[in-house]
Amino acid sequence: MNFLEKKKILLIISGGIAAYKSLDLIRSLTKLQCEIKTILTKGGTEFVTPLSVASLSKNKVYSDIYSAENETEIDHISLSRWADLILIAPATSNIIAKMSQGISDDLATTVVQASNKNIFVCPAMNVRMWEHASNKQNIEKIKSYNYRIIGPFNGEMACGEYGDGRMADIEYILKELDNFFKSKSNNKKFRAIVTAGPTREYIDPVRYISNRSSGKQGYEIAKSLFNNGIETTLISGPSKLIPDPNINFLKVNTAEEMYKKTVESLPCDVAIFCAAVGDFKVKNLSEDKIKKNKDLNLDFEKNIDILKLISKNNNKPKLVIGFSAETSNLHLNSKQKLQNKGCDWIIANDVSKKDIGFDSDFNEVSIFYKDKNVGDEIIPKTYKSVVADEIVKRVINQLNLI
Ligand code: C5P
Repeated sequence: MNFLEKKKILLIISGGIAAYKSLDLIRSLTKLQCEIKTILTKGGTEFVTPLSVASLSKNKVYSDIYSAENETEIDHISLSRWADLILIAPATSNIIAKMSQGISDDLATTVVQASNKNIFVCPAMNVRMWEHASNKQNIEKIKSYNYRIIGPFNGEMACGEYGDGRMADIEYILKELDNFFKSKSNNKKFRAIVTAGPTREYIDPVRYISNRSSGKQGYEIAKSLFNNGIETTLISGPSKLIPDPNINFLKVNTAEEMYKKTVESLPCDVAIFCAAVGDFKVKNLSEDKIKKNKDLNLDFEKNIDILKLISKNNNKPKLVIGFSAETSNLHLNSKQKLQNKGCDWIIANDVSKKDIGFDSDFNEVSIFYKDKNVGDEIIPKTYKSVVADEIVKRVINQLNLI
């Protein structure tokens, strides 16, 4: 289904070399039957002409806030109210800086400042500009206003340098927009909990034992659930990743904290336990920093098993899904885990394989079902975001059956 059909997109093109790609973006959006109005910033007009934008979008192009013609015909408020969504592509570091500070000195920034709509920003700039501390701060600032950032991508730039800063591919931008409208159109409300990332099991106030989990697979699952209209709570151990601002996000350190937050977040329809929870914790946690002149002998005890406990909880979600990382006997170990944990599905990955698992953008998983009538399935190696979409597709099918 095309969720972009008949949607009104207000596209702002600011002045970067990637502006030429916006012409393709307009073409693709019109093919998907969007209605498009465009604002070209002063810099934008240096890279693409109002005439080419107008002919592709089949609509008028707006540019100068002080134009008498524009002000009588359409003002900055009504232009923003007209749109279902505002898309800024490419967004230069300059327009991002202005938006972060509320500077409204042209039509584009005035419309954004006056907007009550969802704003999507596709940054495109040189890698050094992207990585500059001021730009990083500005990005964090606009994220805190709930603006969504698409990209940038990594690769070779127009200037010949290499790194993060290329505007996201058109296909990717379209998918993000489609997901957004899909999440709004789905009004059957399910609730989900996802755990992700590692846990830290403390030895003393400054030292801990942890693992290499990045949280990527769990964050992608949470994002996909949300994109499918499911109200999602993501409970995460320490991770560098930033979740979508619409996801209820709870940060934890230890397995105990993760369990507590999970129980507090019940009831829900589906719980997906993606976190790499520490299997052991230190028995006698030292209140003071342990001195190095002493011998260090640590006693461990089994940690709380969140998946097992939630599977037995009176408030057990309709569907409880565990993950398992295995290096051998994937089938046997996963079937045993299904029984032992009491959950409904186990999603297993063979971590002995190269290029998948910890910190990678890729994964390959097998799904084992408690229901003996349903055969095991494999999702072959692909992006973790695609694995997430595949899992969520199956979750939604199952929830609609229960
Ligand atoms: O027993 P194992 O660690 O292989 O089980 C993995 C699954 O159990 C994962 O879904 C993980 O999130 C969950 N788990 C948990 N609490 C633990 C250990 C694992 O919830 N203490």
